[in-house]
Amino acid sequence: MPTDLDAAWTRLEAAGAAARDRRIVDLFEAEPDRLDTLVLDACGLRLDLSKQPWTKADLAVALDLAEAAEVEAARARLFSGQAVNASEDRAALHMALRAPNGAAFKAQGVPVSAEVEATRDQIRRFAEAVRSGAVLGASGKPFRSIVHIGIGGSDLGPRLIWEALRPLEPVIELRFAANVDPAEAALALAGLDPAQTLIVVVSKTFTTQETLANAEVARAWLRAALGPAADSHLVAVSAAPAVAQAFGVPADQVFAFWDWVGGRYSIWSAVGLSCAVALGFEAFEALLAGAAAMDGHFLTAPLGRNAPVMLALAHIFNRNGLGRPLRAVIPYAQRLRLFASFLQQLEMESNGKRVSQAGQPLTRGSAAAVFGDAGTNGQHAFFQQLHQGTDVVPVDFVAVAQASEGEPASQTKLLANVIAQAEALLVGRSAEDVRAELEAKGAPQARIEALVPQRTFPGDRPSSFILMDRLTPERLGALIALYEHKVFVEGVLWGVNSFDQWGVELGKTLAARILPELEGQTRNPHDPSTVALIDLLKD
Ligand code: F6P
Repeated sequence: MPTDLDAAWTRLEAAGAAARDRRIVDLFEAEPDRLDTLVLDACGLRLDLSKQPWTKADLAVALDLAEAAEVEAARARLFSGQAVNASEDRAALHMALRAPNGAAFKAQGVPVSAEVEATRDQIRRFAEAVRSGAVLGASGKPFRSIVHIGIGGSDLGPRLIWEALRPLEPVIELRFAANVDPAEAALALAGLDPAQTLIVVVSKTFTTQETLANAEVARAWLRAALGPAADSHLVAVSAAPAVAQAFGVPADQVFAFWDWVGGRYSIWSAVGLSCAVALGFEAFEALLAGAAAMDGHFLTAPLGRNAPVMLALAHIFNRNGLGRPLRAVIPYAQRLRLFASFLQQLEMESNGKRVSQAGQPLTRGSAAAVFGDAGTNGQHAFFQQLHQGTDVVPVDFVAVAQASEGEPASQTKLLANVIAQAEALLVGRSAEDVRAELEAKGAPQARIEALVPQRTFPGDRPSSFILMDRLTPERLGALIALYEHKVFVEGVLWGVNSFDQWGVELGKTLAARILPELEGQTRNPHDPSTVALIDLLKD
């Protein structure tokens, strides 16, 4: 690590240590222009980082760290299609997928934008044909449902987008099957008419055990009802199109994507096909436009006004300055309920690494573990710990000003709750305040002494607040791209490859070894606990 980068890290860690000796809430008085510095607007999203534990001087230290890590040069390498995913010798060019027509992205020197545009056009034509009834099922009926089969990056993005944007009464119903648990495919197919159902199998590799197992179940379900013509109901999205065709998918219903699209960054490709069909191509295009706007912002805004950079630095300040290994993500929008699950893959698969790009062990913590659920539901489940637990868990709140449906008065209550939670975490409630309330109620002294510690809130718990006017496809696209680029910046600071995922491989290999043992075909040596489980569960 270059000395100036090392020195910049040391200064950030020292700034974090100093932050333990003060309270965030006091910084508002000490820094009257705090909001001007720490609130920014980007692509229809307002990002308020003023409830984070940093001072403006700490922000300068964090920005120095970004400069020392050469974030801007790394960003240029990303956008120019260099092999930023070194361990797989691949570019990571998800920005090419959402760029307007006429862009000129190159992956490792090879032009890709024309192919992207051609595939986007194929998506549009297919979506319009299915929705208009120009394409019909094997028995001449229009399609009314889609079962999207895929896992990880081939599932989480489409699931999030469908739930976020689905109409109240969809023309085409979209269901998902990811888990190899037989219950999931059974539930996804239950009650659907095979004659009116498209099966969209999404797998970059087309080798993923869970996806192939579910695809076989769905294909058998179609064939049982429709006979050999059933395969016309199969659609595939894959970077291995020949394997998809060998599975039985008609060649003109195989949609390509490319090795320079990482699974967790792939929603902008044909991986979003099911959503494009079920929501309509215009919504899909608007999603892409929102993300492209965030790409433009990330590329051009100065680091101190750059939303992905600033969000990354706030997270780094908590993670490395203050040693906080967890983060909660709480969207106050039921339709964004799955955002934390989506971010779990985006953040933890991208940056949950223990060695650098160069293979050296990291000397400081990388990705925080992310968890969350929709507010207000989370308030009645795990918020107790956020307010009074022994560990400080920084929170990202995401709120939507105007509801797209439902009772307006409920929306106002929802907003009151999200603002209140951020304030409660920040300000807390002092022992004196609790004592005064109990005394005013005439509680006996012994009872007051017992209750004061229980009812005190330490406060000083940081949060970020992201606000959008409405939950539109554009805003959703911008929100997802904001976090994608935030993850990239963090990866640059930690020195890791954010685009590989070797840590998922060992379990897959062992499962392939254990499967024939459970089927009673063979025995392999294992530790005694594993042997006992296999013996218990084998056929
Ligand atoms: O197991 C992890 C993973 O490789 C993810 O990175 C990926 O999104 C998911 O599996 C699905 O892979 P595929 O799209 O190749 O089926």
